[in-house]
Amino acid sequence: VDVAALRSQFPVLAQIAYLNSGTAGPVPQAALDAAVEAWQVGARSGRSAAYYERLVAAGCRLRELYAGLLGADPHDVALTSSTSEGVVRVLAGLDLGPGDEVLTAPDEHPGVLGPLITLRDRRGVSIATAPFSELAGAVGPATKLIACSHVSWSTGAVMPDGLADAGVPLLLDGAQGLGAIPVDVTELGCDFYAASGQKWLCGPLGTGSLWVSPRWRERLDSVGLTYVNLDDPGAGLDAAPLPDARRHDSPAHGLEAMLPAIAAIETLGAFGWPQVQARATELAGLLAAELEDRGRRVAPRGRTTLVSWEADDPKAEVARLAERDVVVRSFPRMPYVRAAVGAWNDESDLERLLAGLG
Ligand SMILES: Cc1ncc(COP(=O)(O)O)c(C=O)c1O
Repeated sequence: VDVAALRSQFPVLAQIAYLNSGTAGPVPQAALDAAVEAWQVGARSGRSAAYYERLVAAGCRLRELYAGLLGADPHDVALTSSTSEGVVRVLAGLDLGPGDEVLTAPDEHPGVLGPLITLRDRRGVSIATAPFSELAGAVGPATKLIACSHVSWSTGAVMPDGLADAGVPLLLDGAQGLGAIPVDVTELGCDFYAASGQKWLCGPLGTGSLWVSPRWRERLDSVGLTYVNLDDPGAGLDAAPLPDARRHDSPAHGLEAMLPAIAAIETLGAFGWPQVQARATELAGLLAAELEDRGRRVAPRGRTTLVSWEADDPKAEVARLAERDVVVRSFPRMPYVRAAVGAWNDESDLERLLAGLG
């Protein structure tokens, strides 16, 4: 990777050691330019037929880009607003009720736990929990689904082996996976993969994807059908859901979200995704080793882009670092501070972080 060229795409890096892509990635200049262009099209020419033609074309392109990153067929990819929306669509679209159980880890992101609370409270589904690393062994006779992270948001650990062979469908929360590390949904063996556009793909908030395995194409109910999900919206009440994952598309996206999302993915793609991902995980590994050398307790992690370490007062540590223009985060009720390391970071960012720790 030409690191200087990559870094120069991201205005924020000129001042700030930005290590918070696990929340939202740095915005590339090209995405900013694309957002301005999208608004100009609407503002100057009106949001007329031409605007909508561009919107449809942008939707196709974005779906293709997400599919490429997932190792999937675009027909199996829905355009959502977030990881959380993808999780909601899967949980609400499965035919689950009293007597059924969903298995998850207790410290999953609230983007997974929130929809599970709804499933429990509104549908009478039991929610069972087991530690992330022990999920496969916790599958019981009532388990109808495992819902968990591909990469843990709090530690950077990777989902344990054996989950895909546990004999029940698998919904992966890929918020910290897609874009960060190589993803191939077939290799993962999952049934559903929900991901964010704003984190490791550096797109706008309000973008994301949901991959639905072809074996669920006919079986996952499309909840909350809107006009974007119908094969022939003009057919009134005779309209049918689209035959592929477009039946799970969010109706939320304008050109103003799509064009920057495309520009951001293309910006990163120009440097080669395998190279971008390899560099990010290497830098993250380097940071973890440096922290350990300094006596910090680093949470058990995998070959991912997240590094969390224990701090006596995580919030205070985050604030101290922010004063030095180093952006990381802490968590409610967890002892960690987390750095999210991208290929756009460099050794100087890591040094600023380490120097700020004292
Ligand atoms: C593991 C995990 N799941 C879900 C989310 C929520 O993502 P989104 O805002 O795209 O729904 C996050 C965001 O921090 C996350 O880290």
